[in-house]
Amino acid sequence: MIPTMQITIQDVHKSFYRGDTEVRVLRGLSCEFTSGSFNFIVGPSGSGKSSLLYLIGALDQPSAGEIEIDGRAISSWSKAEANRFRAQDVGFIFQSFNLMSNLTALDNVLIPEMPKGVSAEKRKEAEELLKRVGLADRMTHRPSHLSGGEQQRVAIARALLKQPRLILADEPTGELDSETGKEVFSYLRLLAEQNSATVIVVTHDESYMQPQDQVYRIRDGKLLDQTQVESVK
Ligand SMILES: Nc1ncnc2c1ncn2[C@@H]1O[C@H](COP(=O)(O)OP(=O)(O)OP(=O)(O)O)[C@@H](O)[C@H]1O
Ligand SMILES: [Mg+2]
Repeated sequence: MIPTMQITIQDVHKSFYRGDTEVRVLRGLSCEFTSGSFNFIVGPSGSGKSSLLYLIGALDQPSAGEIEIDGRAISSWSKAEANRFRAQDVGFIFQSFNLMSNLTALDNVLIPEMPKGVSAEKRKEAEELLKRVGLADRMTHRPSHLSGGEQQRVAIARALLKQPRLILADEPTGELDSETGKEVFSYLRLLAEQNSATVIVVTHDESYMQPQDQVYRIRDGKLLDQTQVESVK
């Protein structure tokens, strides 16, 4: 059976407080991401795109409204369920890479495998992924000896190694040259197709969009519209 990953966002609000001032970041946003779909979130800086990804990844909670994963509200999960979801089901490719400074690039990719023990097979896969993202000669480097774009590629390889059911990517190609960017997207698409993974990407670069992709435009914390890409520019 192919595991599903259906995401329903229902009238979600999110506010932050700066002192006594309420900053309303998401203001009643509703949408759905279907299993195996490839989705883009676009919108101006500060419109709430990253905040939305944090909520979907169960890294933060909405101030109001509900997010359901496969029909179950995240707010009803136990702590253990939320941890399992983040550890096993989600590949995070975020603006801050969360690499461990004392580990090599290769070991950083293998972090999620460490609790259960790293098999020789996984190590090989991790090496293969690092080669794919152009880091064949950087595997034994620590993060401080890698550029920002290289660190980002390590984080991408780590997210892909998990073969997660859901990929949440925040500007994944922001610091990459266009060739590496294409390579990363071809991998994300392979995951979506082969594993029926749901992929949600925040990007300013519309050149990575393909026919059938869903595009969600966010403005001022609300969904402006949802469209399907019809042709490639
Ligand atoms: N933890 C926080 N505390 C206070 N304000 C926050 C917090 N996180 C986000 N914000 C504010 O919420 C608003 C939306 O932020 P968010 O990061 O979701 O925007 P974005 O659409 O991802 O923008 P960008 O394209 O610049 O990354 C911003 O005004 C930001 O300052
Ligand atoms: Mg952002």
